[in-house]
Amino acid sequence: MIVADLSVFRLDAGLIDDIVNVAIAYGFMTAITDGAASPEKSKIGKGPMMETIYDALRESHETQRSLCKRLLRTKPGTGRDDIFKALYVELEAHAASEERYLYAPILMDDNGLSPSRHALAEHHEIEEMLEKLQSEPSNSPGWLPQAKALSKKVHHHLREEEKKFFQASGKILTDAQKTKLAKQYRRDFERMKKVLA
Ligand SMILES: [Fe+2]
Ligand SMILES: [Fe+2]
Repeated sequence: MIVADLSVFRLDAGLIDDIVNVAIAYGFMTAITDGAASPEKSKIGKGPMMETIYDALRESHETQRSLCKRLLRTKPGTGRDDIFKALYVELEAHAASEERYLYAPILMDDNGLSPSRHALAEHHEIEEMLEKLQSEPSNSPGWLPQAKALSKKVHHHLREEEKKFFQASGKILTDAQKTKLAKQYRRDFERMKKVLA
């Protein structure tokens, strides 16, 4: 993997950013941005790279972050409703499939109980915020502050999953489970997006 040898070169920050961006584009994001030592990471450099449940989940997390950013920048009447709908579908489909294919399996382990409860409670909070936003016209005065609160909550939740819950579950699930759950999550996520659209 190219990144392992970076320290021997004198590279400026811009060049390192370029290399990281190329690596992200080729799907090596977790090894570079979060440290390959974390327990949930793909086995990069050890045979064919298999997608894990964490790779699949992070893909939707990035979509969620991007849609939140776009939603807060968009003025009423210029596609705000469409972006909100896309965010609604992404958040709800992701939460459902993540609950089924990450949190339900680790709930059976004593060490998985607390992270699962915490994450599911936040999914419920996010769902309630989405329902409130959905019930009001997006050009009403209180809509944007509520959308900002939703975005803040979503960012908090994603950060906590990526920094804490993925690591905790990575110690519970086997490598074979991580790759099998990725396939099951993806199949269900695509189905849920159609159900919610
Ligand atoms: Fe997630
Ligand atoms: Fe989640």
